[in-house]
Amino acid sequence: MRSKQGYTPFLHFFPEEAMPHHSAPQRAVPGSGSTLPDLTGVVLPPRFRSRHARIQDVDGMSSLINEFADARIMLARGPLYLYQNIQDYRVITLPVGGRETVIACGGLHVLWEDLTEVRSVAVHPALQRRGVGRSIVLDLIEDARALGAAHVFTFTLSPGFFASLGFSAVDRDTLSPVVWAECSKCPKFYKCDEVGMMLHFPPQDQEQ
Ligand SMILES: CC(C)(COP(=O)(O)OP(=O)(O)OC[C@H]1O[C@@H](n2cnc3c(N)ncnc32)[C@H](O)[C@@H]1OP(=O)(O)O)[C@@H](O)C(=O)NCCC(=O)NCCS
Repeated sequence: MRSKQGYTPFLHFFPEEAMPHHSAPQRAVPGSGSTLPDLTGVVLPPRFRSRHARIQDVDGMSSLINEFADARIMLARGPLYLYQNIQDYRVITLPVGGRETVIACGGLHVLWEDLTEVRSVAVHPALQRRGVGRSIVLDLIEDARALGAAHVFTFTLSPGFFASLGFSAVDRDTLSPVVWAECSKCPKFYKCDEVGMMLHFPPQDQEQ
């Protein structure tokens, strides 16, 4: 069995960084060197909602996340990670040029019996500050609540955004060791400038 890129399923023997990148899946922003779709002139509908991500969304999610990773404001996510963790993710899409286009994504990963982590929240630069990020994170919080989690954690360079959604900054020294397992994969591990933020559910939410 071969994948659409022509490489075989034995990929798990190789580190993710060594794998060939996907070809740019959508129109690039002219002249910017970006693989993001050009959303110039795209109007956000008055109502939009996230849905669980599908395998076919990975190219669009990868373009979004890695655009911000290139600017060193998010952790890069390769296709291996995104395919294997696709069930963590939500996307918001819009029809652009006749095709469904990912304009935002975000993931919720279970870290431990009481702890979940919001990861890789990204909104297309042309559509930021219009409630798209809020919509996706609120849905991820509902996913955490439905799973029975007690806390939702995130590391971010946008603490104001998460504070507006009820998260509070936490002292790094109080963080569970499971948080640091993922951090150790980050190139900024020894000089991390991200803020750890936590949202706590009331105990009655976990008893339902
Ligand atoms: C951070 C990000 C996800 C926010 O998404 P967005 O769609 O632009 O944000 P929203 O319009 O939903 O904003 C929700 C609230 O957060 C506030 N907010 C948004 N971005 C903010 C920021 N960078 N700093 C402070 N507050 C911010 C908004 O003012 C809004 O508050 P309000 O409802 O009181 O007006 C988006 O800007 C993004 O993709 N940034 C690059 C990647 C990134 O930093 N991801 C963060 C997690 S790793």
